[in-house]
Amino acid sequence: MDISGKSYKAFLKRQEALQKQYSEKQAEKQHAKGKLTARERIRLLFDQGTFEEIDAFVTPADQPVEFGKVERTYGDGVIVGHGKVNGRLIFAFAQDFTIMGGSLGVVHAKKIAKIQEMALKMGCPIIGMMDSGGARIQEGVASLSGYASIFHNIIQSSGIIPQISVIMGPAAGGAVYSPALTDFVFMVNNTSYMFVTGPNVVKEVLNEDVTFDELGGAETHARKSGVAHMIYDDEENTIMALKKFLTYLPSNNVENPPVVQDDNSTPEINEKLRDIVPDDPNKAYDVKDVINLIVDKNSFYETAELFAPNLVTGLARLKGKTIGVVANQPKVLAGVLDIDSSTKGARFIRFCDAFNIPILTLEDVPGFLPGVDQEHAGIIRHGAKLLFAYSEATVPRITIILRKAYGGAFIVMNSKSLGGDFSFAWPTAEIAVMGPDGAVAILYRKELAESSNPAELKKELVKKYRDKIANPFIADESGYIDEVIDPAVTRKKIISALNALSNKWVKVPARKHGNMPL
Ligand code: HXC
Repeated sequence: MDISGKSYKAFLKRQEALQKQYSEKQAEKQHAKGKLTARERIRLLFDQGTFEEIDAFVTPADQPVEFGKVERTYGDGVIVGHGKVNGRLIFAFAQDFTIMGGSLGVVHAKKIAKIQEMALKMGCPIIGMMDSGGARIQEGVASLSGYASIFHNIIQSSGIIPQISVIMGPAAGGAVYSPALTDFVFMVNNTSYMFVTGPNVVKEVLNEDVTFDELGGAETHARKSGVAHMIYDDEENTIMALKKFLTYLPSNNVENPPVVQDDNSTPEINEKLRDIVPDDPNKAYDVKDVINLIVDKNSFYETAELFAPNLVTGLARLKGKTIGVVANQPKVLAGVLDIDSSTKGARFIRFCDAFNIPILTLEDVPGFLPGVDQEHAGIIRHGAKLLFAYSEATVPRITIILRKAYGGAFIVMNSKSLGGDFSFAWPTAEIAVMGPDGAVAILYRKELAESSNPAELKKELVKKYRDKIANPFIADESGYIDEVIDPAVTRKKIISALNALSNKWVKVPARKHGNMPL
């Protein structure tokens, strides 16, 4: 090729124009808000030199604009492409707020849809980094339709490839449903927010004053709504955490998660596990201490840490292989199951099941949370989701009953009759229809009422109930659990159970889909 020729010069001119588009001034504007530019985000995410951009030179839709203006820029406000993250192929898009507020016009939408379809075809995870004012107002219904095609693609890919959203600026209006439909949502503290209607509309319609952050900031969504699963203080830490998170996941639903070399630093047998659960059943402890002594050292990656902390969920590794952990947390609300923890658990279990991640359940749960609020808000409907999710999961499922396993909660938390593969109990386990106090109050109401010393009688009966009923040995002897084990050997037991289940195969009945109680 003649590099002094006309066509080569035209080629260079376009390249130059593209470079110029990303000015220092725009970058400074982003930086002043504590945000990075779309290109800087892409650079942080991908292994050096591996990102290949697609459609860098497309221009916005050529349609008459009679209201506002559409900037004639290259790329239409979004960078899309593929590259390697930790050596594995990933597709990604990053919205560029410096171009028309990252708003989604038709061409912008088509670019995202194009790589969504490619990611699905190649069986690769897709990451969306969002920083956008939503549907481009000037492009009207065409931009709404663009969103619809993006939503449709996410739903088509759901359960086939991991889809992760990272909110790095505004996500407003119907646009919020794009991240909400994906598997995990990361948000950045102070600079990202998500809401269906913003503070101004809230003020207009309801006359309520609320700040952007209170209404839809990272902390709000991580703690209250459960929309955000992971939040970090700045964009760099968010992207680093996302890269780590990806190491646990397979690229698609027909692969197994990647196996890393275990450094064997977690002892197979650990006597410290004998001392965590207090003898007093009313005393709390931190179930994360149990998790961390069982899984490979430093491998526990907690998801949705701030939302419904009475149920702990997260990914971890056992001998280098990814597992999902679901654990009641006695430190928060005594580990009770309520609406939020039920939906949190159900969604996590379905994610693990979709992506071939075995589930380890650590159980210490006094039951479902009683109360008018919970009943009226639908604890029946939401608790049923957890039941449904466990029961339909076909990945290996192992339960360790650490202490309380009462009533419906015993059944829900992956009991064997619900299809759990292995169920082990520690000697501290209390398995029964209900806790001793409730059982004694019902069965001995008359005797207690007539007793001259009801407190003493109750104490005696509670002890008897614990000895005769609320212990793990009856369940062990009748086969409802597989074995009462020494807590010290828990890791070893789980590893051999998972080995035994490595070729687990379950035939599921042919149907369009089940009808989960949503
Ligand atoms: C076109 C937009 C835009 C939009 C922002 N811009 N949002 N252009 N369509 N939706 C442009 C602004 O005009 C401005 O252009 C530039 O982007 C930066 O915006 P600012 O307002 O200056 O930035 P900031 O003060 O940081 O405020 C950001 C913002 C605000 C809070 C996001 O721009 C805003 O409220 N935008 C509208 C949000 C919204 O309601 N979107 C529609 C949602 S409905 P200049 O030229 O001045 O730099 C939706 C439907 C989806 O998305 C349906 C799916 C089913």
